[in-house]
Amino acid sequence: MKNTFVYRAEKPIIKLLQITDPHLFKDEKSELLGVNTQSSFSQVLTEIKQENSEFDVILATGDLVQDSSDEGYQRFVEMIKPFALPVFWIPGNHDFQPKMVENLNQPPMEKAKHILLGDHWQILLLDSQVYGVPHGELSRYQLDLLKTTLEAYPQRHTLIVFHHHVLPTNSAWLDQHNLRNSHELLDVLAPFKNVKAILYGHIHQQVDSQWQGYQVMATPSTCIQFKADSQHFALDDVQPGWREIELHPDGLIVTEVKRIKQAKFLPNMQEEGY
Ligand SMILES: [Fe+2]
Repeated sequence: MKNTFVYRAEKPIIKLLQITDPHLFKDEKSELLGVNTQSSFSQVLTEIKQENSEFDVILATGDLVQDSSDEGYQRFVEMIKPFALPVFWIPGNHDFQPKMVENLNQPPMEKAKHILLGDHWQILLLDSQVYGVPHGELSRYQLDLLKTTLEAYPQRHTLIVFHHHVLPTNSAWLDQHNLRNSHELLDVLAPFKNVKAILYGHIHQQVDSQWQGYQVMATPSTCIQFKADSQHFALDDVQPGWREIELHPDGLIVTEVKRIKQAKFLPNMQEEGY
């Protein structure tokens, strides 16, 4: 595959940090449904740093910026830079790809969508954005990329990453914004035995579950949280967070979602839409 990032791991276990859906704005005082997204993202990063964990790479899984602004993307880069780690990214439904590509074309952001990690793992980041709408889809191109990569590295445990969700959330309003062609994804995955898990953002809530035999993980946003199992739009007062993932040489995944503890961000719970 073109544009593969080779990460030479020094330890047998690879550790990933996932941050998702920061929804930054041009103006750092702007709020999303009552939460200042700049402040909540900053707090998340602060508390991650305080833990002094050693990560190998960072995955930023979309909806980085809410208003398509250069300033939002530039601020994302500035804020993530102190980790001094390669940052891989994918677009979410709210991202504007021309601005993303332009502004994220600098260290520590990496443009590769395929990562070979150590001797046992690979990560494939796919673009599930359908321009201008909240739901997602994997284009033929993305599905072909997935297939050829899986064929090329059948011996590597594989983590697949994209923005939209495949496992229904039991929230009708949110599930209409899912990955629409997950059946086509399943068709591509079926012949391969090395796909260990699927990781996404988008739904602003934690999920650690199984979907069609695959481990699936979804992660809290760094700003507002959507209430789980709510048919109508509803926000939750659980706090922003992030996910840590260990990839073990034998294919085991050990993962944990963490949330901020030293500050409290409360959205406007009366909001009825997003
Ligand atoms: Fe999203």
